[in-house]
Amino acid sequence: MRLGVNIDHIATIREARKTYEPDPVKGALIAQDAGADQITFHLREDRRHIQDSDVEKLKCVVRIPLNMEMAPTEEMKEIALRIKPDRITLVPEKRQEITTEGGLDVVGMEDFLRDYISQLKAGGLKVALFIDPDFSQIDASVNVGADAVEIHTGEYANAKDERDREYQLERVRKASQYAKSKGINVFAGHGLTYTNVKPIASIKEIEELNIGHSIIANSVFLGLDEAVRLMKRLISEARNDTL
Ligand code: PXP
Repeated sequence: MRLGVNIDHIATIREARKTYEPDPVKGALIAQDAGADQITFHLREDRRHIQDSDVEKLKCVVRIPLNMEMAPTEEMKEIALRIKPDRITLVPEKRQEITTEGGLDVVGMEDFLRDYISQLKAGGLKVALFIDPDFSQIDASVNVGADAVEIHTGEYANAKDERDREYQLERVRKASQYAKSKGINVFAGHGLTYTNVKPIASIKEIEELNIGHSIIANSVFLGLDEAVRLMKRLISEARNDTL
């Protein structure tokens, strides 16, 4: 299972002071050396954390795949086609939200997304859609030509009690199996932490997890290198458990 380290919140700290440190590009290189399989970042329309100049620099120096999360807008399409990250993950975006709150409503935007994705693919880009663990969203993702889905694990992460957590875990598991059976690649992420990652990591249909906030938060105490290594260790332990 691959680990994509989301570096957005290194930039969040920098932007809190509008200064030059900490540098998310330096963070990407440390994560790469610590065993991250991919660097993930979200270029938001309001540029609240990652800036355009970070994207340019990441493209120049990072040697592992780059996964750019973005809203399906004209502006972002142009940037993606110019920079050519290894993958685009389309996410819904609202200005007022603290973080991406739910999955993309692929069902409600099928025609628009089919056209949008075909333009990205014509530029040689691979496209994943960030969706809730919902069969109809998976069917729609296949219909619009996505290469992959990333299943939103936020409801699992925010479950109010053990019963709800089991229920949400089962939703993620069933959605992952369904998506895989449709011949599409399956990733997952959002709200995953050192304490809740293992049950998700043990779902064998999921090939990749994208994790940001918890890794960056813990790097304050552990250092980024150790924070990445620890998450990798937990994921591979969970994976071995199910082999
Ligand atoms: N995957 C996607 C598509 C996201 O939008 C985010 C948040 O930017 C993440 C994963 C990582 O979420 P978290 O920061 O909660 O680990």
